[in-house]
Amino acid sequence: MSLLEIEDLHVEAGGRKILKGVSLTVEEGETCVLFGPNGSGKSTLLSAIMGFSSAKVTQGRIIFKGRDITGLPVDARARLGIGMMMQRPPNVIGVRLGDLIEVAAKNGHGSTGHEGEFRMDSMMDRDVNVGFSGGEIKRSEMLQLTAQAPDLVMLDEPESGVDLESINMIGSKVRDLIENNGRRTSAFVITHTGQIMDFIDVNKGYIMIDGRIRSEGDPREVLDSIKAHGYGVDDE
Ligand SMILES: Nc1ncnc2c1ncn2[C@@H]1O[C@H](COP(=O)(O)OP(=O)(O)OP(=O)(O)O)[C@@H](O)[C@H]1O
Ligand SMILES: [Mg+2]
Repeated sequence: MSLLEIEDLHVEAGGRKILKGVSLTVEEGETCVLFGPNGSGKSTLLSAIMGFSSAKVTQGRIIFKGRDITGLPVDARARLGIGMMMQRPPNVIGVRLGDLIEVAAKNGHGSTGHEGEFRMDSMMDRDVNVGFSGGEIKRSEMLQLTAQAPDLVMLDEPESGVDLESINMIGSKVRDLIENNGRRTSAFVITHTGQIMDFIDVNKGYIMIDGRIRSEGDPREVLDSIKAHGYGVDDE
């Protein structure tokens, strides 16, 4: 049984059809990367898996740990073990980052007290994401995931906007989260550059084009083909 199975998923956002029949699997202990041009639907897919109401499933199913979670609310999915780093998380006015981290640790399997490792000590009293820089948002999202320690880690462009020194920290934290003291956690990671693959072992690569998975294969070969031929490689 796969940890995550997406079956013929159709999703609308803002009244438009965005995902047009996506099927894919993430196995237990497997790390998959998802490539694809801007606007192809990658973030929408993660939103649909997490259960955000902005991504409306109109057809198909999402199966996690053998259970159909397609209709479950976000908090229930989080408690089942799904966690996500969002590309653009919303400001949460009135909620301290420190309080959010405590809730994440209480409902998950991780722990608090990691803010020093993420250079976030001085941020714990601030409202979540309010005025955070791009890099601070990434570190905050990783800190929350470390507290939650989900069984499926979904990362939306973890390296994007991160400075050259912090990329090593983010990369090693992603590796720690996935390696999980020897009990490999499953991961589904969106990346444009593939830079995160310098830090983690990746088993499978997917390319999404216009709301559909267009190819699947060895992640390094998939990335090399994009670099050499662009995204339209299958059409040529
Ligand atoms: N709420 C919404 N209302 C209208 N359009 C939306 C909404 N959400 C997503 N879209 C559209 O859906 C398409 C896919 O968006 P999505 O964010 O999933 O792309 P992406 O593959 O993650 O792109 P990027 O690489 O730029 O992050 C885009 O054209 C976007 O404008
Ligand atoms: Mg995106």
